[in-house]
Amino acid sequence: MYNEKVMEHFRNPRNMGDLEDKDIEIEVGNPACGDLMKVFLKVGEKKGVKIIEDIKFKTFGCGAAIATSSVATELVKGESLDDAEKLEFRDISEELGDLPNIKMHCSQLASVGVHEAIYQYRKKNNMEISEKLEKSHEEALNTLEATEEKREQI
Ligand code: FES
Repeated sequence: MYNEKVMEHFRNPRNMGDLEDKDIEIEVGNPACGDLMKVFLKVGEKKGVKIIEDIKFKTFGCGAAIATSSVATELVKGESLDDAEKLEFRDISEELGDLPNIKMHCSQLASVGVHEAIYQYRKKNNMEISEKLEKSHEEALNTLEATEEKREQI
């Protein structure tokens, strides 16, 4: 079902775990299956620009959810917050080669997780928040609620 790259990230996920000196910890969910992703974010500064100094995740979900979380964190680590915010779920699935169609929603969990962590950091530090990030945050709130309902049914 999965290609070799997806399997490799599933078996050896990058950036999995917690961060001791995190600035932000968030949780997002996938209402389609009840899977959850936690993101831990540490923000630094390089030449006056806020960057993702470190990012880790804990995902409770399928193989694709683990592999996409791994790739998503790799793609944004070291990037500026502005660039990291541009991450789309298609970037993640493209990076992995391909994902079966029925698993595309798994890559959305990872992109929403990254966006929500950046949203919460910006909010905590009274920074400007883009319309795109606001929308993503609304979606994260709604889907987390729906995920909890789904988990109660499982
Ligand atoms: S089946 Fe739930 S995230 Fe993949």
